[in-house]
Amino acid sequence: MSFDYLQAKVKQCGEGINVAFYFADSQWFLKSGASERPLIDLARQQSQPFYLYDLDEAARRARAFVSSGLQVHYAMKANSFPRLLQLFAREGLGVDVVSLGELKKALENGFSPSKIIYSGLGKGHEELEFALGKRIHQINVESFEELQLIEELSRAMNLKAEVALRLNIHLAAPTHKNIQTATEESKFGIDIRQLPEVLTWLKTAKNCHLVGLATHVGSQITDISVFRTVSQRMGEIYREVRGQGFALRTLDLGGGLGLDYHSSGERDLEILPDYFAAIGGHNTEARVVIEPGRFLVARAGVLIAKVVHVKRGINRQFVILNVGMNALMRPALYQAYHRIEPLVHRSGAKEVYTICGPLCEGTDIFAEQREVSPLKSGDWIGIFDTGAYGAVMANNYNEMPRPPELALFDGRLEAQ
Ligand code: LLP
Repeated sequence: MSFDYLQAKVKQCGEGINVAFYFADSQWFLKSGASERPLIDLARQQSQPFYLYDLDEAARRARAFVSSGLQVHYAMKANSFPRLLQLFAREGLGVDVVSLGELKKALENGFSPSKIIYSGLGKGHEELEFALGKRIHQINVESFEELQLIEELSRAMNLKAEVALRLNIHLAAPTHKNIQTATEESKFGIDIRQLPEVLTWLKTAKNCHLVGLATHVGSQITDISVFRTVSQRMGEIYREVRGQGFALRTLDLGGGLGLDYHSSGERDLEILPDYFAAIGGHNTEARVVIEPGRFLVARAGVLIAKVVHVKRGINRQFVILNVGMNALMRPALYQAYHRIEPLVHRSGAKEVYTICGPLCEGTDIFAEQREVSPLKSGDWIGIFDTGAYGAVMANNYNEMPRPPELALFDGRLEAQ
């Protein structure tokens, strides 16, 4: 597929739409389908913090991915809001799951077994038996031990298992170290140095058939050349393994495409033709699979919360919110940046605040010394670009509630 063709296709998918959440006349709006609503109106209908999603934004991105011609399996760990899953299933995406819980949820929300890839390190007896019984499309095997268990189970169940090997190709992706997944010491995948031993074993395995190779080198990667390297290296390994007589057909190159969290996302889609060409361009003999998560959904969500206090310290002013790291772990875990803004801007010069949650934990800070339009107790704020790895990672630490997830349907906010 030519680069120009991809560019035209992606442009078509984004035509006429900018971003879901936009700022105009001193306040933030949600543009969803034909309607536009001030976020403050939606916030005032709620008493607690909540995640607000715009599914049109996610649909537009999903279409841009589908237009690439690659096999797209949404990494549902990023956001598993049921209506979002149903939407992606309708748009023709497959799904990548990493636990029995995700597998069951995918099945309940419109994905047929033939559209499911099951990755993850901890697939034991119960998980594998269920997946094999459902005849899901592909199991990405993360260890020799798991492979041997699959052989044992499929023999007992009298069926043939089609498997792909997830390989650790030793590539330290340029991203936060907590979301690199293919360094030499990483727990993920089968170390590339163990591949010959695994292949020798597979030659005599009766019930496991090797049909593909997979990898995922990390997340929030914005340097496209990394994907070119991954694609080239995996392509070489693919051809070598095929040369040994294995009837491979798929090459799963994982997810990982990142975003500029400092920007509003209006230009996000411009990177896609380059990305598709880099990841898909080298391996025409294989069916190339990708597993995007963040890129599809991060921009489609905002966490909306209230200011409890603006606390004047000696050197700093702290804004204390009614939501904490229990609801959004990313800043505490990866020092991640999220745009934070009042839903309605007050007049006056910007102020510098440290914006915190209320939890008894020093890392419960969303932004250090951030310049923001002036805030007062009772103001509502938005923490933007939190549609990925937001609600799914929320917990109840300090007995804080997990924020509800809402989306606009026919002008009304609904949870399901
Ligand atoms: N495939 C596999 C096997 C994965 O482990 C992941 C993400 C993906 C695909 C999707 O990657 P994405 O396109 O979303 O980068 N909680 C972290 C991110 C953890 C990613 C885990 N694996 C964060 O908030 O940045």
